[in-house]
Amino acid sequence: MPERFETKTDQEEVKRQLAFIEAGRQFVVDLKNKLGRTPTACVTTFGCQMNARDSEKITGILADLGYKIVENEDADFVLFNTCTVRDNANQKVYGRLGTLHGYKKHNPYMRIALCGCMMQEETAVDKILNSYSFVDLIFGTHNLYKFPELFVQMMTRDITIVDVWESTTKIVEELPIVRKYPFKSGVNIMFGCNNFCTYCIVPYVRGRERSREPEEIVEEIKGLVADGVKEVMLLGQNVNSYGKNLEREIGFPDLLRMVEEIEGLERIRFMTSHPKDLSDDLIACMKESKKICRHLHLPLQSGSSKILKAMNRHYTKESYLELAMKIRKEIPDMAITTDIIVGFPGETYEDIKDTLDVIRQVEYDNAFTFIYSKRTGTPAAVMENQVAKEDIKVWFDEILSLVQECARKRTAMLDGQIADVLVEGMNEQDATLVTGRMSNNTLVHFPGDESLVGSIVNVKLEECKGFYYLGKRV
Ligand code: 5AD
Ligand code: SF4
Repeated sequence: MPERFETKTDQEEVKRQLAFIEAGRQFVVDLKNKLGRTPTACVTTFGCQMNARDSEKITGILADLGYKIVENEDADFVLFNTCTVRDNANQKVYGRLGTLHGYKKHNPYMRIALCGCMMQEETAVDKILNSYSFVDLIFGTHNLYKFPELFVQMMTRDITIVDVWESTTKIVEELPIVRKYPFKSGVNIMFGCNNFCTYCIVPYVRGRERSREPEEIVEEIKGLVADGVKEVMLLGQNVNSYGKNLEREIGFPDLLRMVEEIEGLERIRFMTSHPKDLSDDLIACMKESKKICRHLHLPLQSGSSKILKAMNRHYTKESYLELAMKIRKEIPDMAITTDIIVGFPGETYEDIKDTLDVIRQVEYDNAFTFIYSKRTGTPAAVMENQVAKEDIKVWFDEILSLVQECARKRTAMLDGQIADVLVEGMNEQDATLVTGRMSNNTLVHFPGDESLVGSIVNVKLEECKGFYYLGKRV
């Protein structure tokens, strides 16, 4: 019997947590009286877009509790929303915790909390309890919505509060949120992953795949649009299997068509698509859509059918190429980006040659290349033939330089075009320029001022600078 998951927000739980926010405000008021100023809170995000969205939820709750939200980690409350997809993400957290400890020694009222994927790992939590006992609160990915309740516990007790669940069947959205950008927002359409790629820890730390009801998603987006949002990013580990656990027959393209209808919404993005589930209907839907951005992230991981099989990816070099070529033919202006892992157990230079071949044929617009990181508990961690570091370094560099060559070539092809650009902010180096993103995700800098931020404008792409453009408003 498959496990039953809730697909709608649990309104009772929302009410409970709102009551904890109400109660929690008193602690912040007390702290304000002691400090003689408004207490500050800083949320630092590691990892992916899912974590970024979760951090907005935490930030919203902290703002509602009465904290002043700041970027500086020398604050009265600091939360690290952690990632564990590769070991270097974990190492960064331990390093940064050392710095926080220094701040805490000077600020006896400071509270430190950790949440996110790394906290779903028992070994990481044990290490923190043993070696970083100054941390006040630890919780995981499944009970993020319980943050108001855990906050109250943390403020009333002197020990480290640990609350990490193995899984959940609940969906609890609709708590206060502070968005990082007023004009664009992530929207969770599903949680978890059922794919169990053999290198990946995500299914263990984010749990089984659960989709939200389409009406709740549409309502959330309508609310965002009413609040000024122009672009949404639909988030899921594998959006192409959206709807599988819902009672009615609905697939990802059906959801996209519903979102397309939302008046006032201008751009739709989504992340991530697993190549094994990308249907012809999705290609048709993207092609006919006026709002879906011309950018598809289609993780390859490896171009070798042998390695793909060992990774449990359920596609081959040939079937991936066929899919990518179909997309290139049907929607020529669609940018295709990818993820590649170098150094998976058993990989040889023959396999790397296949990966290079796929890169050459698809001509990715951009690619993220990662060195394989052994994650305890995944099948790949105990595979024989782990690859030597020296080989990985050479292969990585060769892949990276080809990826960059392709990206430069694809970017250069846009020279002279007029593009829609959503202005995201002022340019960090030059105060006379603003920075925005084209539908295909390419960055463009052009003369403009603060008043343009959040609007979509036409820009002539005048000077290709490798991976980005300098342009002029037309
Ligand atoms: N080692 C290296 N890269 C990994 N990824 C996931 N797990 C690992 C790992 N163990 C990469 C994949 C995935 C991206 C989000 O992270 O390429 O698509
Ligand atoms: Fe990890 Fe594979 Fe799931 Fe992506 S699809 S989160 S790589 S297991």
